[in-house]
Amino acid sequence: MSLTGRRILVTGCGGGIGQAVSKLLLERGANLILSDLELHGAAAANACKARYLSLDVTQEHAWRSAAATIRDDYGALDGLVNVAGAILLQPLVETSLADYRRIQSVNHESVFLSLRYCTTLLAASTLEHGAAVVNFSSIYGLGGQPGFSAYCAAKGAVRLLTKAAALEFAANGQRIRVNSVHPGPIDTPLARAPIEQLVKQGKVASIESGMNRIASGYPGGRIGQPDDVAGVVAFLLSDDSRFLNGVEIPVDNGFTARAQ
Ligand SMILES: NC(=O)c1ccc[n+]([C@@H]2O[C@H](COP(=O)([O-])OP(=O)(O)OC[C@H]3O[C@@H](n4cnc5c(N)ncnc54)[C@H](O)[C@@H]3O)[C@@H](O)[C@H]2O)c1
Repeated sequence: MSLTGRRILVTGCGGGIGQAVSKLLLERGANLILSDLELHGAAAANACKARYLSLDVTQEHAWRSAAATIRDDYGALDGLVNVAGAILLQPLVETSLADYRRIQSVNHESVFLSLRYCTTLLAASTLEHGAAVVNFSSIYGLGGQPGFSAYCAAKGAVRLLTKAAALEFAANGQRIRVNSVHPGPIDTPLARAPIEQLVKQGKVASIESGMNRIASGYPGGRIGQPDDVAGVVAFLLSDDSRFLNGVEIPVDNGFTARAQ
């Protein structure tokens, strides 16, 4: 699963999963372009000795500018990993339209913008099997969850945007595979945030007890670690997955495999 020399852009590189993905892609030999909000991911990029771009994924002008920089400095992209995201735990009827739109913007519209502005760069890849895109959805993009309506809607949209883009690129003769990953709970700041909220509201005793409660509902009885996801991303970027296109891969230790 070598990725030697592949020019790969990763968004959200400063977060829990983004850091693990960046580290593994570096180990596999990728020529990484890491990005996050302002300086949020700069330390991660520095640790990987990778190029860092400040890129707010919700901003169209930021994507336009990032794509122009990559075109000038790298000529093309061989891979794109849309990791950046944010969660919201809030009852639907208490969610403002502004909050709903913010969650769509960072999780879902960002993926549209990335494809909109990076397709030309990805199509210019000279790899034998073409370029690959990995979009981050969630198990909450495969089914609903009370309290997470905005997040579920956004991650569900990523799932189908992935499939539509995969088919459209293939129909256009563009050699760009597009697949999505759907993690279950992974121990990162994003997964802990809703539990912290419940602790503050007195609904859960502590972060640890909240995490343990989630873990006990999962096959294997543990919450995932960022490394559990990184290997799947590396696989989807590699030639080993060259005949996978438009697929959704749950990374949840079997949670979504259960009979309902
Ligand atoms: N952790 C989980 O349990 C879990 C489960 C399923 C899916 N996911 C998805 O995995 C991805 C990574 O999540 P994580 O757990 O590493 O979260 P995290 O909070 O640790 O990291 C998210 C990263 O995205 C960045 N980001 C947020 N808004 C941004 C913006 N506007 N522009 C650029 N970057 C921005 C943050 O700065 C941060 O570095 C997200 O898309 C998330 O929805 C996570």
